Amino acid sequence: MSGGKATASAPANIALVKYWGARDLARALPLAPSISMTLDRCRSRTTVEAVAVGDTVERVAAGDAEAGAGEEVLLRGPGGELAPAPERFAGRVRGHLDELRRWAGERAAGVRFRVATENSFPASAGLASSASGFAALAVATTAALGCDPLGDPAAGGLGSALLSSLARRSGSGSAARSVLGGYVEWPAEDAGGDDDPRAAALAPASHWALADVVALVEEGPKTVPSLDGHRLAPTSPHFERRLAELPRRLEETRAAIRARDLDRLGPVVEEEAIELHLIAMSSRPPVFYWRPGTLEVLEAVRAMRAGGVGLGAWATMDAGANVHVLCPAAEAGEVAERLGRLAAVSGVIRDRVGDGPALHDDHLF
Ligand code: DP6
Repeated sequence: MSGGKATASAPANIALVKYWGARDLARALPLAPSISMTLDRCRSRTTVEAVAVGDTVERVAAGDAEAGAGEEVLLRGPGGELAPAPERFAGRVRGHLDELRRWAGERAAGVRFRVATENSFPASAGLASSASGFAALAVATTAALGCDPLGDPAAGGLGSALLSSLARRSGSGSAARSVLGGYVEWPAEDAGGDDDPRAAALAPASHWALADVVALVEEGPKTVPSLDGHRLAPTSPHFERRLAELPRRLEETRAAIRARDLDRLGPVVEEEAIELHLIAMSSRPPVFYWRPGTLEVLEAVRAMRAGGVGLGAWATMDAGANVHVLCPAAEAGEVAERLGRLAAVSGVIRDRVGDGPALHDDHLF
C-alpha cells in the first residue's frame, strides 16, 4: 500500500463493575464481565502514519518492518512538544502495532508506523489512559491502513465489535470498552465461540447524563501496573467470593442504568471499588494503590451524602489512588467545589458520560 496518515481520539472510561483478574492475561481475556461508563473530557488523541517501506527515504529493511523495529512512538508533553515516549509505554504501543499488523495481513505488509499521542488528562495515574490510548491507536492505525474503522459493517466499515477486539489486542482489557460511548458491557465469553469477547453498548450517553468528578490526589505514574494486579488477584482469599458475587452486581448495575437510578447504582459501584482494592491489598504480595488522600476523599463523599448536605455522590477508583465521584449532572458543580477544598486534592476534573471514538483532520505531526 502507499502511506496513509490518520488521527483519532478515544475516551477513557470508568469501570462501574471492574475487570480484575484474567483467564488469559497475555490476550487480556477476563475472568468475568465488566461494565463501564465512557468519559467525555478525558480522551487520548493519536496520529498514526503508515509508511510503506519501499516508499520511505529512511529505508528500513523489510524484515525489520515486519517486527516493528525502529517504529517511532512520540508523546506530546504538557508544553505541546513531541518527544519519544517512555520505553514502557512505547513497548506496549509497538506490541499493539504488531497485533494490528498481523490482523491487517496483506494491507499492512512491509508497512512501518510512526505514532504520536497526547492525553487530555494525567497519564498512568489510574485514569485509564491505556484504555483511551489503545482504543485511539486501534482506530487511527486501521484508518491509516485505509479501513473505515467507525463505519457501519453493513457498509464496509469495521464496526464497534471488531474495533473492541482490536483494541483488546493491546493487552489492555479496558481498551475493549473505550471504543463505545455511553454505558458499555464487556462480556467474559464470546457468544460466537471464537474466544474473542467484544464490548457492546448497554445505553448511549444521551440515555442518562451522569457526571464524574475526578479528585486527583496523585498525579504521578502508578507504581504497580494493572497487569501485576490482575496476575496477583487470584492469590487473595477474597477473590473467589467476589466472583460468586458478581452476577448479582452485574444485574443490579444493568438495572440501575436502565432505570437511571443513581441511588441503586451508587452502592454497587462503591462496593465494587472497595473490593477491587481489598483484593489488591490482600494479594500475595500485596498491592497498595491508595494514598492517604484517597481515604480523605472517600470520607468526604460519605459526608456529602449524609443528611443536611444530601448530595447524590458515590465514589469509585480504578487501579490508582485518584477517586471518581459519580453524581447527577446538576450537582457536579457543588461536588467539585467540595472536593477541591480538601487538603489532599491537587486538582479536580469535571467530566461526564460521553461518546465513543472520533476521527480528526488535525494531525499531531
Ligand atoms: C482497575 O488491564 O485494562 O481499571 O492496561 O492499565 O488499562 P490497563 O489496565 P487493564 O485493567 C483495568 C483494571 C481496572 C478495572 C477496569 O477498568 O475494569
